Amino acid sequence: MTLPARVKLIDVGPRDGLQNEKQPVPTAIKLELIARLADAGLSAIEATAFVSPRWVPQMADAAEVLRAAPHRPGLAYTVLVPNLQGFEAARAAGAREVAVFAAASESFSRKNTNCSIAEALERFRPVVAAARDAGVAVKGYVSCVAGCPYEGEVRPDAVAGIARALFDMGCVEIDLGDTIGVGTPASIRRVVEAVAGHVPVDRLIGHYHDTYGMAVANIYASLEMGVAMFDCSVAGLGGCPYAPGASGNVATEDVVYLMQGLGIATGIDLPRLVATARWIGAQLGRPPQSALARAGVAVH
Ligand code: HMG
Ligand code: MG
Repeated sequence: MTLPARVKLIDVGPRDGLQNEKQPVPTAIKLELIARLADAGLSAIEATAFVSPRWVPQMADAAEVLRAAPHRPGLAYTVLVPNLQGFEAARAAGAREVAVFAAASESFSRKNTNCSIAEALERFRPVVAAARDAGVAVKGYVSCVAGCPYEGEVRPDAVAGIARALFDMGCVEIDLGDTIGVGTPASIRRVVEAVAGHVPVDRLIGHYHDTYGMAVANIYASLEMGVAMFDCSVAGLGGCPYAPGASGNVATEDVVYLMQGLGIATGIDLPRLVATARWIGAQLGRPPQSALARAGVAVH
């Protein structure tokens, strides 16, 4: 299959990357991270999450972050909302794109959002309706697409069922989350194939955590199947507070390097992105996750 000429990369670092940090990250650092990502050419950034501050204290400044995030032509922010309360708070802070998040595993759904999968889908219905009225785009995550930290194996047809339900409800894009990074190209291919039977492949986003170093391979396998949107996280930041052992998303700089090598456009300036990875690493007091950011960009 011909690979796409261009991909959309969404940096989820300010949300998925920082949500799991033990020490509070000052709002000013979050805002500078967002500005630096925009300066490096990111046109899509997942800025924050309007979730319960009791559940995820690190996202307690969601409204402040979204209100103060820089507005630039062509730059779009997504924010997570788990329910109507979150959606209303996000709207009041100016959100234009939101993401609801379901899971393909019952245990993860309960641990992450305190409800069953069916209850989560019911909670999203009024969110999608209110978003439609407000002209706000909604994307729908499915977590645990390649495995669950509590239940182990997750069947591709279970993932496809949730993806279909979200798409039928009105989610314009479906984001496939390998929350704990256990997928391999073979299992990710099975998931994408199952979901693509229900949702057009050009509406799919790959969201692969890099726990076992498989994320770049999983992106390549997805590209071969026509997926052209990927979540990633500068410096490989992150993990999920309700997915023990999960490491961060694939590092944005690793994905940009892959795309450059394949001749696929991203619109992102790799040296600036690497500088941002090093900068956020210094702010958090540890080196970036990616070897590329630690060693610098190779010159061929
Ligand atoms: P609950 O405790 O069942 O909620 O939590 P509730 O409706 O019973 O309300 C209890 C309290 O929470 C009330 O406050 C509400 O006002 C408040 P009180 O009266 O006790 O003071 N509340 C809220 N506050 C702020 N914003 C809200 C909100 N909703 C209720 N939106 C709930 C249910 C869903 C709220 C909670 O479980 C929650 O916030 N979960 C979010 C967990 C989370 O953010 N996880 C990480 C993101 S998911 C992820 O990382 C995976 C992903 O990256 C994809 C992948 O990798 O696969 C997306
Ligand atoms: Mg994630």
